Amino acid sequence: MSIKIENLNYTYRQHFMEEIDALHDVSFSIEDGDFVGIMGHTGCGKTTLIQLIAGLTSPTSGHIYLDGEDINDKNYDRNALREKIGLVFQYPEYQLFETTVEKDVAFGLKHSGLSKEAVANRVQWALETMGFEYEKVSKQSPLGLSGGEKRRVAIAGVLATKPRILIFDEPIAGLDPYGRQSFLQFISKINQSGTTVIMVSHNVEALCEYSKRLMVLDKGKLIESGDTKEVFKRLNKRSNRVPGVTPSQKIVSLLYDRNIHLSSDIVNYQDLLSALKDELIGGGEI
Ligand SMILES: Nc1ncnc2c1ncn2[C@@H]1O[C@H](COP(=O)(O)OP(=O)(O)O)[C@@H](O)[C@H]1O
Ligand SMILES: [Mg+2]
Repeated sequence: MSIKIENLNYTYRQHFMEEIDALHDVSFSIEDGDFVGIMGHTGCGKTTLIQLIAGLTSPTSGHIYLDGEDINDKNYDRNALREKIGLVFQYPEYQLFETTVEKDVAFGLKHSGLSKEAVANRVQWALETMGFEYEKVSKQSPLGLSGGEKRRVAIAGVLATKPRILIFDEPIAGLDPYGRQSFLQFISKINQSGTTVIMVSHNVEALCEYSKRLMVLDKGKLIESGDTKEVFKRLNKRSNRVPGVTPSQKIVSLLYDRNIHLSSDIVNYQDLLSALKDELIGGGEI
């Protein structure tokens, strides 16, 4: 299910306040099965952009096409859109409210028309995909779980509706390094099973290691988009006004100052590791 975004503009207008241009002439497309990262400083328009893609609000001008159909066309079926696109809000764990984990995960399936048994199967599948032992956790209160576990339950709730496009707003914000890593692996697994993933994040390392394509927003404008590695190479060459470079690029630069000259094309850990192997031990195994 491809997404095509054309000349998107969004202006917040509120009484007694000046207008805020949150998005300015943004255009790009996303192919089926892609893993797209969206990066940029706070306030650059990331959340606004994904809310528009999920159809929660309509653009001031411009178009969003899903499989060739304009989702803001007055004849477009918004309910069908909700089934296709799942949006995981920032800190989704705050939205858990049912008495048991299984009820919470099943909530989004209330009006799905699925049988009780089919719902139970979906819930089990979603919880297991998010790394839970179904029998252990299903009857527990979500309130008794850890922060990271609550977030996984909340994501299972969105996953249970089987969206073909899953959008995450800062999914690893506030998690410790171990939690971040396992979370990213869950998201990666969901993507590998065929779901298109769009992930908004501040975390350069996460975007660098996991997203296949990357969009960079700056003050509402799309300043870079393309293959993640290529985007980071270009960002590295730009001025210091950009959101940042990857940890591996930083290490390459630190090593350069110590007279170890690796390729300036290195972007991620895998590239760094193989360049270091070549440099230090002639490509052999460590
Ligand atoms: N509900 C709102 N009303 C007015 N301005 C808003 C609202 N939400 C966001 N903004 C403004 O729009 C711009 C983009 O915000 P947002 O999309 O939340 O950025 P990000 O997610 O990248 O931090 C910011 O200047 C922000 O202050
Ligand atoms: Mg945001």
